[in-house]
Amino acid sequence: MKITSAKFVMSNSDASKCPSSNLPEYAFIGRSNVGKSSLINMLTNKKSLAKTSGRPGKTQLINHFLINETWHLVDLPGYGYARVSKKDKKTFQKYITHYFRSRKQLVSGFVLVDCRHEPQPIDLEFMQWLGENAIPFGIVFTKADKLKPNALQRNVDAYKATLLATWEALPPIFITSSSNNTGQEELLHYIHEINES
Ligand code: GTP
Ligand code: MG
Repeated sequence: MKITSAKFVMSNSDASKCPSSNLPEYAFIGRSNVGKSSLINMLTNKKSLAKTSGRPGKTQLINHFLINETWHLVDLPGYGYARVSKKDKKTFQKYITHYFRSRKQLVSGFVLVDCRHEPQPIDLEFMQWLGENAIPFGIVFTKADKLKPNALQRNVDAYKATLLATWEALPPIFITSSSNNTGQEELLHYIHEINES
């Protein structure tokens, strides 16, 4: 699938105020700084559609982007950012969990993990929570350009092994780099297939 149009629609902290249309949507979630906003820019071939930053905590709201006039990509704030106050963490948790629980248009979430890191408890717990709530999700390894192919494969295999120690099956898995467009085609193809089904 080619993205021919991508537009910012709205920012929100309340899932009930997100776009009311029935367009299918796909949401990116993960630790702060993992590359959620960058991935939206990479997929849409737009440098600054979603705001990115070298400093964690950049995205603070639920951001909807309309793609090809027919579906939404959603950029979410990151979790696990140590410098956010306890109160802010609670508020964030509330509206993100509310978003995932209540958003009928959500077809799939994607949990982004940095391919350089070992499985982090906060990501595993979030995936577990998605599973328990029957919310479909895929895993997207980000920043693949930061590792040599062998090290990348080793890390992805180790991650899969960790998941399979407790899960019966693996979710769909993607390897991406927003620096060199790795994974763009695979991820867009996956979304396209679901949209057409
Ligand atoms: P929050 O909004 O704070 O939760 O962060 P985010 O997950 O949206 O991350 P963002 O896209 O803002 O990227 C964080 C930093 O990582 C920026 O400096 C990006 O340039 C960098 N980055 C993101 N993706 C990649 C990638 O694929 N490769 C490399 N080398 N850097 C990346
Ligand atoms: Mg962001």
